[in-house]
Amino acid sequence: MNNLKIMTIAGARPNFMKVASISEAVKSHNNSGADPYIEHILVHTGQHYDEKLSQCFFQELGIPEPDINLEVGSGSHAQQTAEIMKRFEPVLLNEQPDALIVVGDVNSTVACTLVASKIIYPDSGTESGRIRPVIVHVEAGLRSFDKDMPEEINRILTDALSDILFLTEEDAVKNLTSEGVATEKMVMVGNVMIDTLLRHLSMAKKSDVRRRFKIPSSYALVTMHRPSNVDTREALKPLIDCLIEISKSVPLVFPVHPRTRNALERFELLPVLEQNSNILLLDPLPYLDFLNLLASATLVLTDSGGIQEETTALQVPCITMRENTERPVTVTLGTNYLTGTDPATILSTAGKILSGQGKKGAIPPYWDGKAGERIVKELVERVAAS
Ligand code: UD1
Repeated sequence: MNNLKIMTIAGARPNFMKVASISEAVKSHNNSGADPYIEHILVHTGQHYDEKLSQCFFQELGIPEPDINLEVGSGSHAQQTAEIMKRFEPVLLNEQPDALIVVGDVNSTVACTLVASKIIYPDSGTESGRIRPVIVHVEAGLRSFDKDMPEEINRILTDALSDILFLTEEDAVKNLTSEGVATEKMVMVGNVMIDTLLRHLSMAKKSDVRRRFKIPSSYALVTMHRPSNVDTREALKPLIDCLIEISKSVPLVFPVHPRTRNALERFELLPVLEQNSNILLLDPLPYLDFLNLLASATLVLTDSGGIQEETTALQVPCITMRENTERPVTVTLGTNYLTGTDPATILSTAGKILSGQGKKGAIPPYWDGKAGERIVKELVERVAAS
């Protein structure tokens, strides 16, 4: 059989844990000597470029150095998306992979998908006569039904243009079906981010992060960076007040995303947090340190997508400070509480959890550490054979 040439896109922090699992699964497929050999090209768009949001994840997760870095950096949505598209097109024309794998819902995901969906490989295309890559979306079909969320736009467009949709949870089937997506395109494979979590959990437990930062045995871990929560003072101030209130019952550990730090500075909210001895502000943490803190937290407060899933996998209670979630299984089966951003609801839910009445939750089907393997098997069957 001819080699199978695949290209995977990584752009922003939440992509890296997902790409790590795919990379591992390709490596073990090749090491097993199974046919066909998979040539794997990794493209980093450079959407996230800080050491703390990017480089350290590659090192810790053992992701190979990207073959190509587009170095796009920050910008408005239009600028960032357009810049990725401009820089990615020549790369795709040059490499001509059989399949393009995009993960999650960031701007890099949709930008590369758009390029691939209109490309025409020069001459006769790939060895198999393919004139464009098969577009594969990992973590497809999630919907928050909130089009004010940039990620929702990215999800809808990416799914509409993809040829193979790998799913993490059952609701995705319903969402995609209602958008007219053919059932044959969908495959339930589980969650690649949870593959990476399970693979690194015992190593993470050895991290000395709690000793290093003198974190007590009971604490709540906080993350917040959604534009709707941090980009205006009206949204951010009540949430910060609410965190200060919770910190009277439990110490808070808060690794601050660059977007949030900028906002806290701009709205002059940083000093009140810095002066609070029950709130520990940190820079964004490397993966293993963060996973250590997640696994041992009494409570997690977040507006992230991925952390809702990670807390469910770890069976740690999580409060999601958003009005909606694209990951409903974390609420119906897992440990997640969708409180919205109303401080009273956040406070009462935190009180319930802190008094020991938090959900224990169950692990969603297929979140068993084998999603990457299933993806590679399907790629071999569906792409190599086509
Ligand atoms: C992006 C993703 C979001 C994901 C989040 C995780 C989109 C639309 N959003 O949001 O889905 O949950 O990443 O982190 O793709 N910045 C730095 N250093 C960096 C990267 C960014 O300082 O390495 C700054 C930028 O200058 C900008 C801000 O952080 O001011 C936001 O970065 P941006 O990439 O626009 O979006 P995120 O909020 O990180």
